[in-house]
Amino acid sequence: MRVTVVGSGYVGLVTGACFAELGHYVVVVDNDQSKLSALREGECPIHEQFLPELLRRHHGDRLMFSDDLQKSVRESVAVFIAVGTPSADNGEADLSYIESVAREISGAISDYKVVVEKSTVPVYTSEWIRKIIVRNGANPSSFDIASNPEFLREGSAVTDFLFPDRIVVGVENDRSATILRELYEPLTSGLYSRQPYSVPIPTTAHALPRLILTSTKSAELIKHASNAFLATKISFINAVATVCESVGADVQQVCDGLGTDSRIGPRFLNPGVGYGGSCFPKDLSAFRAVAREHGYEFRLLDEVMRINEDQRRRFLKKVRSALWTLRGKHLGVLGLAFKGGTDDIRESPAILIIRALLQEGCAITAYDPAATERAREVLHSNVTFSANAYEAAADADALLLLTDWEEFESLDLPRLARELKYPIVIDGRNLYDPQRMADQGFTYYSVGRAPTMPDHLASSVPKEYLETR
Ligand code: UDX
Repeated sequence: MRVTVVGSGYVGLVTGACFAELGHYVVVVDNDQSKLSALREGECPIHEQFLPELLRRHHGDRLMFSDDLQKSVRESVAVFIAVGTPSADNGEADLSYIESVAREISGAISDYKVVVEKSTVPVYTSEWIRKIIVRNGANPSSFDIASNPEFLREGSAVTDFLFPDRIVVGVENDRSATILRELYEPLTSGLYSRQPYSVPIPTTAHALPRLILTSTKSAELIKHASNAFLATKISFINAVATVCESVGADVQQVCDGLGTDSRIGPRFLNPGVGYGGSCFPKDLSAFRAVAREHGYEFRLLDEVMRINEDQRRRFLKKVRSALWTLRGKHLGVLGLAFKGGTDDIRESPAILIIRALLQEGCAITAYDPAATERAREVLHSNVTFSANAYEAAADADALLLLTDWEEFESLDLPRLARELKYPIVIDGRNLYDPQRMADQGFTYYSVGRAPTMPDHLASSVPKEYLETR
């Protein structure tokens, strides 16, 4: 099938490359010329596993990049809108990019098209897109609007797209449902996963994803509700971690007992420095705003957001309680991205924590396997960036772990202890076993677990010193 994807951001680029991988002919349209020329030259603008391979495999054949939206729409049967929906000052999603795309494609709708919302949008957006397209001259019976939310996570976006838990398709009639069913048929039939060239199937993948047909409004709500629920799960466990610290329980043991209940499940139950990224913070605010606009005060979401912010404050308090005064202290920081596996620093708790520590007068040397360049753009010369974890630790008063990169889980601990001025590790992602860290000579702070330290120190430290609440 011939498909246009409007927007070459995270969702647009992954969607375009993956539809090409499924055998469709795709044009990804963007009006950012520098982005287009980089893509045409074979560059992959984001750090995402398997994406460079897919771009190489299909670019110039089933995958093209263009700035000519109207031409591309005329030649396509399905048009996916994947442009940005940033947060406005009042927390609502700013839908002006969506509106301008709707205006522009209107003139190119001659024969039948299905126009699909792929960006995360508030409920009722599909109705507005329809109105704008008709207002600008398209025949109302020559197109349908559908909502097909994307659930991909950064870092595993390609496998999330190609091996999804489910595919949600919100439509108002059979005509558009048939086209979307056909587009996803290689996934729902299992045909794609049987191909010798297919991207490796993750162990967590469902045998065959269910295609869930809903109304457009339900599909729009499913996306907001899913992200809000996942963020709630994270804030819930972070709140439990705080209680664990107060009563002397171990949050990892609690997670184990909690997550093995199949009704709850173990995923998204990792306590830490709070959630960040381009989706959860923005989508929670937008969902909160849309609920309010329609007469419901979704106070649960306020609390989820409040706990998330509090989590960063609590971490900073932990740093203070480990180091006493902060002015002039030299800290090594591991992790800048909002989570492991990505170079994205949008709403990254690591960046927010670094900014707060800089304000308190700390000197910081930071390392991240992928996000250094992006972090440099926002932190400038206030932070020194190092080439590896051990350089970041060199001569530091303490080491802070802020992102859950896999490589941070298997550091050479004796080497780390040698590099640090004082063997103090403050772990915002619970990457290490507290007892093991104490055995290796570290004073170790983590989230929702009691601090640990080598025996010879433990006996000399007053109990209040260890308390972080
Ligand atoms: C999220 C949704 O998971 C995805 O379905 C949606 O399409 C886009 O938003 P993403 O933002 O890429 O994806 O990252 P995700 O893996 O969900 O993590 C979000 C944040 O929560 C990160 O900062 C992460 O570190 C944090 N997190 C996640 C936790 O703190 N604990 C967890 O258990 C899981």
